[in-house]
Order: sequence, then C-alpha cells, then structure tokens
Amino acid sequence: MRRAVCPGSFDPVTNGHLDIIARASRLFDEVVVAVGVNKSKSSGRLFSPEERMAMLEQVVAPFPNVTVAGFEGLLTTFCQEHDVQAIVKGLRAVTDFDYELQMAQMNASLTEVETVFVPCSPEWSFLASSLVKEVATFGGDVSGLVPADVLERLTARLAERAAEREG
Ligand code: PNS
Repeated sequence: MRRAVCPGSFDPVTNGHLDIIARASRLFDEVVVAVGVNKSKSSGRLFSPEERMAMLEQVVAPFPNVTVAGFEGLLTTFCQEHDVQAIVKGLRAVTDFDYELQMAQMNASLTEVETVFVPCSPEWSFLASSLVKEVATFGGDVSGLVPADVLERLTARLAERAAEREG
C-alpha cells in the first residue's frame, strides 16, 4: 500500500491544486490531502480550517482513493502518524523549486519520507490561491480558476468582508 500526502493551506483549493491531487491519485494507492491549520498562520486566512476542508471534501469526492485531513505542527509528524511514504508537491515554475527543494531536504532529514515533485499542467502554471483572492476581491473573473462550489463560497465570503468594511 503506497500512501501519499498532498499538503497545503488550500485557502481556497484551486483548479491547480485539483490537477495535482488528481494526478497523485493515479500514482498512489491512497492520497491524503492534508490541510495545514497551524495557528500562527491562521490570521491571514480567508476561510477557516473547517471551511477549507469542507470545500476540499466536496471537490475530491469523485476520487475514491482520496481523503481530506487537517494537520497541525510538522508535516513529517503527520506522515509518521498516518503511515505516509511520500509528499507530493506541484511545481508551477522554477521559482517554486528553491523553497520546495529546501523543504523536501529538511523533511527528508527529519524522517525517511520522500518528496515527489509533479510539474503542474501549463494551463495552471500562473495560479495561486493568493492571486485568485486578490483578483476576485477587485471584481475580476476567476470562474475558470476554481471549482464552481468554491467560486460560490469565495464570492459569498468576499461580499461578507466587503459589507463588514462598509458597515
Ligand atoms: O499551500 P502552502 O501554504 O504552500 O502550504 C505550505 C505547507 C502547509 C505545505 C507547509 O507550510 C508545511 O508543510 N507546513 C507544516 C509545518 C512544517 O512541517 N514545516 C517544516 C517544513 S520543512
């Protein structure tokens, strides 16, 4: 049984994430999408850990070998506790590589976990959750960049935030 993890913040999940998750699901017997919920980073998030996980659960439903979990603390600890042998990371461009290599080597120094880099489809190479949020905040069309249910929640959350600012 080969089990991999696709870790990330997923604030929110994009079509680029989904591409990597789908491809990991074809490479491994089981894939756990692990949502980082470290409290130190939570203040800048648009969605709560529960909301991010709920969106992911909806979009990975078509993949029978993919599950969603939250994790706090080190990713390597999560991997040990869940019998995960590989961390799957998507690389959008060479600019991702420096930091991803550093994390892969740090994680490998902590445990025996392997990191597998998957080149993201060129279709999504410019995509990042942070940019999706920025574009959507200023009224840009992100309908082709996130799953339909995510778009709905994103639009609703941004409207709430705008109303809070105005009220
Ligand atoms: O979507 P992101 O924000 O790029 O995801 C980053 C994430 C959650 C994968 C990364 O920050 C992480 O692995 N955090 C867990 C803490 C940890 O293990 N840090 C040491 C990394 S070498």
